[in-house]
Amino acid sequence: MATADERRPPLRDSAKSSSRAGQIRQRVAVLSDSFRALYLEWFARLGAQDFDEGDVAAILDAAVAELAGLQARYRGGGITEAGLAYGREQIRDLLERVIRQHAVAATTKRQIRHLITDSFQRRLLSSPGRYTQDWFSYHEAHWSRHFGHLAGRSGLQAIEIGSFEGRSACWIVQHLLTGENSRLICVESFEQYEDQEWNFDHNIRVAGCTDKIVKLRGRSQQVLPFLAGESFDFVYVDGSHLVLDVLQDAAMCWRLIRPGGTLVFDDYEHPLFPDSFGMSPGPAIDAFLSMLSGSYELMFADWQVALRKGGRAD
Ligand SMILES: C[S@@+](CC[C@H](N)C(=O)[O-])C[C@H]1O[C@@H](n2cnc3c(N)ncnc32)[C@H](O)[C@@H]1O
Repeated sequence: MATADERRPPLRDSAKSSSRAGQIRQRVAVLSDSFRALYLEWFARLGAQDFDEGDVAAILDAAVAELAGLQARYRGGGITEAGLAYGREQIRDLLERVIRQHAVAATTKRQIRHLITDSFQRRLLSSPGRYTQDWFSYHEAHWSRHFGHLAGRSGLQAIEIGSFEGRSACWIVQHLLTGENSRLICVESFEQYEDQEWNFDHNIRVAGCTDKIVKLRGRSQQVLPFLAGESFDFVYVDGSHLVLDVLQDAAMCWRLIRPGGTLVFDDYEHPLFPDSFGMSPGPAIDAFLSMLSGSYELMFADWQVALRKGGRAD
């Protein structure tokens, strides 16, 4: 039987991959090989609820050792600050999944919570604003080249699915939606961590973007049906990575975009969960594109994929 990669059409040709994709890939691969192998195994077992108290000690030991290793590599200049932040969030995410398991005793959950509070402070990056992750700065120069022509146009309507702490949203508003009456709808479920929404609100406020951002709290699948068809100029899909969610987001967003408008997907090449656990935007984006063939122009495809919708632009 063909593997998932063999079934992928030529769009996912690594030769198309850019240096920014290389930088991001390096950051995503920041976990050590041994920890990553365990991580994938635990992740699958946690998802299947095939997990008990006896597994916790091994996870905690490995997590603490991996964290110390990441910090040592960061101090030695081996990984960037963003790489350290990314690795820490992967470890934290794993520990939080353990806490959600029914089979784990309440005292053990308390112990893990203490470990998280002591070792994984939320503010990880030294950049201004309340940010724990930087998913976006790698793309800024590239986006300026491809979408910079939007700056200054009045009345542009844009959507972002998945705003996290507002980093990409603020950049979009400050660099693309600079014209009068332009606005960005941020669709975000705010379920990543307790203070996420508070940090988002803070970040857009200090960046001076509040007036141009409309925050819609909720999952895209619930929110998008309420938006008007063919009335958006720019849509950035960076929400759920579950393959069916990405496909659904793609189909729903395509209906919302005007002819001539732009749709951008993030994480097309994301290798951390390559087609595992239904997590990977790549196959969903490929399926969507093959269904739409002839009705779009491909602007670029590497870590991200950008399309311009065909038809008459206003
Ligand atoms: C990678 S982060 C987005 C990063 C952000 N675009 C940036 O570059 O700063 C993905 C975000 O999508 C959100 N999310 C996941 N599934 C979602 C859904 N179905 N609808 C809305 N938001 C979702 C998560 O809560 C998370 O904050």
